[in-house]
Amino acid sequence: MSQKMSRKLVSDLKLLTKSLSTHCTSIQQSRSASSLAFKNAYINGQWVTAEDGRTFPVRNPANGDLISEVPDMQAKETQTAVNHAADAFKRWKNYTAIERSILLKKWHDIMAKNQEDLAQILTAENGKPLAEARGEIGYGISFVEWFAEEGKRIYGDVIPSAFKSKRLLHLKQPVGVCGIITPWNFPNAMILRKVGAALAAGCTVVVKPAEDTPLSALATCYFAEQVGIPAGVLNVVTCSHQHASEVGRVLCQSPKVSKISFTGSTATGKVLMKQSIDTMKRVSMELGGNAAFIVFNSADVDAAVAGAVASKYRGTGQTCISANRILVQEEVYDEFCEKLAKVVSQFVVGDGQEDGTTQGPLINEKAVDKVDSHVKDAVAKGGKVLIGGERHVKGPTFYSPTVIRDITEDMLVCSEETFGPLAPVIKFKTEEEAVLLANSTRFGLAGYFYSQDIRQIWRVAEDLEVGMVGINEGVISSTSIAFGGIKESGLGREGSKYGIDEYLNIKYACFGGM
Ligand code: SIN
Repeated sequence: MSQKMSRKLVSDLKLLTKSLSTHCTSIQQSRSASSLAFKNAYINGQWVTAEDGRTFPVRNPANGDLISEVPDMQAKETQTAVNHAADAFKRWKNYTAIERSILLKKWHDIMAKNQEDLAQILTAENGKPLAEARGEIGYGISFVEWFAEEGKRIYGDVIPSAFKSKRLLHLKQPVGVCGIITPWNFPNAMILRKVGAALAAGCTVVVKPAEDTPLSALATCYFAEQVGIPAGVLNVVTCSHQHASEVGRVLCQSPKVSKISFTGSTATGKVLMKQSIDTMKRVSMELGGNAAFIVFNSADVDAAVAGAVASKYRGTGQTCISANRILVQEEVYDEFCEKLAKVVSQFVVGDGQEDGTTQGPLINEKAVDKVDSHVKDAVAKGGKVLIGGERHVKGPTFYSPTVIRDITEDMLVCSEETFGPLAPVIKFKTEEEAVLLANSTRFGLAGYFYSQDIRQIWRVAEDLEVGMVGINEGVISSTSIAFGGIKESGLGREGSKYGIDEYLNIKYACFGGM
């Protein structure tokens, strides 16, 4: 992420915090970041260990330092959490929407008050620069506030009846217990985007956070407990990589769980969907992407470079909506490549906790290996490295921010999601060719393009096979928009006025003898 963008995130956050201070008067508790390094999981309002006492380490990806050890839970504890969530659902669904909203607002407010500590723990376990972590906390908690409001507007319908003796209604009801399975790249926001909607709708949840980043999840429980969200409504089951599939399977196969919401890879999403079939669960899947970022001849090249930097290098390239393939039309190709490499050369790679860092580590060494294999493959097939192209001296989880030109379709970077700081730039001649290339993937999460030709803007916006499109914009995420993909990038939408529908069933009620 550029320093300019980091500065913007920080200033947005300051504004947000200021606007919150007006309704944060009753909640004053503040925790230091190190005391947010919890050691227990959270089930039925209790801080608990695994039954066999086993734990696994949570390490800082920047330096391998141990931050905490958390319970390595398995099927049994997951089933216990589901049972408690099912019990709590009987009560939580009968809270009025306003009662739930009041609690959610308090939850939002206390997290806002402790934003800095939440950001610190997030950076410690995920590695992203602090400015980005602060931005993520602001983004994550905004979903709790948003759905606290949306929950009050879950309207049904009164349907004009075709029969004189009948009155017809649609009621909207919470689906029940939800299994929430979340990734490490947004350890706070991906949980709150789902849990905010679920709780506002009247559902209860069992969250399985990513094995690498359970502490941000546990910190949200701590604050939920502080504001009185009842026991059993929010449960977090922590587990190591070794037990992740077992815990996921219990959530997917339990008849007591009515819905699975997952953010992560398409491969895992498919496994979870298959496991959910026998109990006919509702599913929301926010899966992998392979976003094309297209720059047409008419584009403002400087704006396109800024957009590409924001989209590609946010979270060190580890977001599902990161530009994965950068397609640039021939007239502006050289200029774009040169300017992009120049901006990237100014990045500061380092520990996210250090001042001035713009690019943190990747989540682990395997992630670095993947980026390196994409770089090596591209170079072997004729790609020219403009900047980076190698592991970074900072340590085994760091990779130098990279730009490669002369990319061709046969290279791995075109068919696989890199999930790292590599910008591959492809040259194209015509709009038709660019759209064909952009759509030549089974993924369809986000796409971006830069153009100043209004007819082209409409055509391309309609033709790109994606759930979300950025037009002359590289940063598209927001609380109020419907986030989600098509094709193998998933099902369902999160955030916006639609996000809460994922946690509601429509029941038709027919009143006879009227
Ligand atoms: C993701 O990468 O999965 C989410 C990114 C976002 O919400 O901006």
